[in-house]
Amino acid sequence: MKRYLTISLILAMVLCAATGLAEPEKVRIGVLGKSVHPYWDVVRLGMEAAAKKLDVDATFYVPPTEDVPKQVETLETWIAMGFDGISFAPSDPDAVISVIKKAMGKGIHCISQDTDAPKSGRLCYIGTSNYSAGKMAGEKMAEILKGKGKVAICTGSITAMNSLERMKGFRDAVALYPDIKIVEPVLVDNEDTAKAVELAETALLNNPDLAGFFGVYAFNGPSAAKAVKSAGKAGKVHIVAFDTTDEHLFMIRDGLIDAAIGQRQYFMGYLSVVVLKDMVHAGKDATMMLMPKTAEGDVIIDTGVDIVTKDNLADYVKLMDEWGVKHQFKL
Ligand code: BGC
Repeated sequence: MKRYLTISLILAMVLCAATGLAEPEKVRIGVLGKSVHPYWDVVRLGMEAAAKKLDVDATFYVPPTEDVPKQVETLETWIAMGFDGISFAPSDPDAVISVIKKAMGKGIHCISQDTDAPKSGRLCYIGTSNYSAGKMAGEKMAEILKGKGKVAICTGSITAMNSLERMKGFRDAVALYPDIKIVEPVLVDNEDTAKAVELAETALLNNPDLAGFFGVYAFNGPSAAKAVKSAGKAGKVHIVAFDTTDEHLFMIRDGLIDAAIGQRQYFMGYLSVVVLKDMVHAGKDATMMLMPKTAEGDVIIDTGVDIVTKDNLADYVKLMDEWGVKHQFKL
């Protein structure tokens, strides 16, 4: 995974070098996220760092919770404001197809980050390879449970591609262990933390033999951990989470979360600005020519993930410091 990040960073440098032309006006871009959460604060930080470095006028917006109409409305506003580029993370990829097509029709460069929408015609995707990351989570869960036990899956969305791909990867990985059973249905909370805790509490009550929770989104792992702690089952019910906000890091340190798949969302924000600015200046074709392609020719920058446990927590935090990702964590 580190290799992908290196490729991304080299690409960032090449693209930055290509943007040295005189510019009459600042490039204006918008970065759209999915919900108010410390996870998204890091995306914004990455966006701001790149915007400062490249002198781009960048706007960031996230709705309070998963809110498809609000995302579409924001995209419409940015089109009306004549932004040059948009990087979006759709809560529902189908719901943004027409607005993204409209933006592209007006010459606005559109790319996705965090969660994809390939059918929208977006030019590229920057983010985690969610199916493989979900698979890693499943393998980690199987290892922790020694191949046996009941697991509940908690997520904030059943429409966003990143959630669907993570869950598919997780299910495919644990399917190799006949003694691991997934509790159905999946617990869905629309990125509402209070609801996430409540759903996890109910799952614990309804399944006294529950062995684990898979937290698909950033707030899911900590929400399940709160429920497990208040049920007095810390250390008995294991949690594999996504993301590494301060809350996750403290919970890993305190043994409430067993493992987290750390996304590198700082680079999703950072590279969105780099790529969009270059598309405006050098042209989209010249920019895309430099970018990594899949076998099918799709343009994707895999920002990579890190599996974080108590054992490598100290090293991981050093890595965050090197990247310049701010945190309040102390060992
Ligand atoms: C996901 C985002 C989500 C965030 C906050 C992350 O794991 O990648 O799509 O909005 O969690 O819940």
